[in-house]
Amino acid sequence: MDRLVIRGGKPLCGSASVSGAKNAALPAMAAVLLTSEELRFENVPSLRDVATIERLLMFMGVESRQVAPGTASLTSRAIQRFEVPYDLVRTMRASVLVLGPLLARFGKARVSLPGGCAIGPRPINLHLTGLQEMGAEIDLVDGYVVAKAPRLTGTRVRFETVTVTGTENLMMAATLAKGTTVLENAACEPEVEDLARLLQGMGARVQGAGTSTITIEGVEELKGASHRIIPDRIEAGTLAVAAAITQGDVVIQGCVPEHFEAVTAKLEEAGAAVALDEGGLRIRMANRPRPVDITTAPFPGFATDMQAQIMALMAVAKGKSAITETVFENRFMHVPELLRMGADITVGGRTAVVRGVSLLRGAPVMATDLRASASLVLAGLQARGETVVHRIYHLDRGYEQLEAKIRSLGGEIQRVEG
Ligand code: EPU
Repeated sequence: MDRLVIRGGKPLCGSASVSGAKNAALPAMAAVLLTSEELRFENVPSLRDVATIERLLMFMGVESRQVAPGTASLTSRAIQRFEVPYDLVRTMRASVLVLGPLLARFGKARVSLPGGCAIGPRPINLHLTGLQEMGAEIDLVDGYVVAKAPRLTGTRVRFETVTVTGTENLMMAATLAKGTTVLENAACEPEVEDLARLLQGMGARVQGAGTSTITIEGVEELKGASHRIIPDRIEAGTLAVAAAITQGDVVIQGCVPEHFEAVTAKLEEAGAAVALDEGGLRIRMANRPRPVDITTAPFPGFATDMQAQIMALMAVAKGKSAITETVFENRFMHVPELLRMGADITVGGRTAVVRGVSLLRGAPVMATDLRASASLVLAGLQARGETVVHRIYHLDRGYEQLEAKIRSLGGEIQRVEG
């Protein structure tokens, strides 16, 4: 298994470009199941999760080819299998995104029920009740969701909790349903809006994406489209924290600043200068950060996917901060690893109290999930001495060339294979 070796203590300086968003690419690719015509995507990040969804779609019968680096063409003319086996759902929960499209176009699907994962139990009950409200018959057989619906029917679905992939699944399902579907308490994440843009390009009638009420008027069929995936706001946020934690000066290029304003606002509160510059967003930090309290929330709140990274920054702040995780139940797996590096953090329920230390110390640490890995890399960039981050396959699921980008900014980081 590959590992990353980091020698910290160097300020990151220069400019780095953000790749396409993993969490926008995954639902967009699943949308190919809604049409027999070609979907062409640009700005597709080269990531393990993207390869997994491609493998899964090809297993079903989707034709996929790379037209150029970052440009993919997908067509689902002849689907032979309407199922997603456990092995794929286990490695990537987002595999459940094929459920809505399969049901909508083919009237059947068999998808393994995801179990727990490193960040909590993460059920899919809201996806399932929503589809049932649209007329699907759903049974749980041998660990699989077996769903049938001659044709889904539009209805009003109110999510009891905001769910990103739940909103995406139902939005896709509703595009081919009979009549109008209204999704209430829908996720407002930019990735949901990006998917809506793609669906509109395919001829779907979707309105209100980006707000908490989305209205979808079903159509008989959808057509092919070309679509550019939005930049990854979590990668952009991670690079911004990398600039701040190393007291560096980095211009993040190709990002959409409004997509991670909650993060940059907290960085400003912590003492960073944030400004639009040369077509990018420039983050400069001259001193140790001030402590700031953070509570995660659905968009436009502070993203749970940035919680581990901001904790690394607060671990070196001049004082005490409280970080509260409200989206997932068990997303503090990075804490014991940060403690190994000399951080002072106490977790009580959903809140971590972080008492900043002036310097972290390099240590061998273990990545437990994608964003936890990013937090350990950030901590390693600040720490004195050598940090070795093990199990970085988690990082490869969602960050394209992170170590190359950090190296180009002057960071000392190497991947060691095997
Ligand atoms: N929830 C339910 N029932 C459901 C669905 C969700 O109780 O049917 C709960 C979850 O357990 C959680 C909360 O609702 O407590 C929100 O979960 P959500 O469904 O929004 O998460 P997701 O759609 O499974 C996506 C991202 C995650 C990101 C979350 C929250 C994708 C592919 N994944 O997951 O990304 O953390 O939204 O913003 O879009 C990551 O990239 O590292 C990552 C984990």
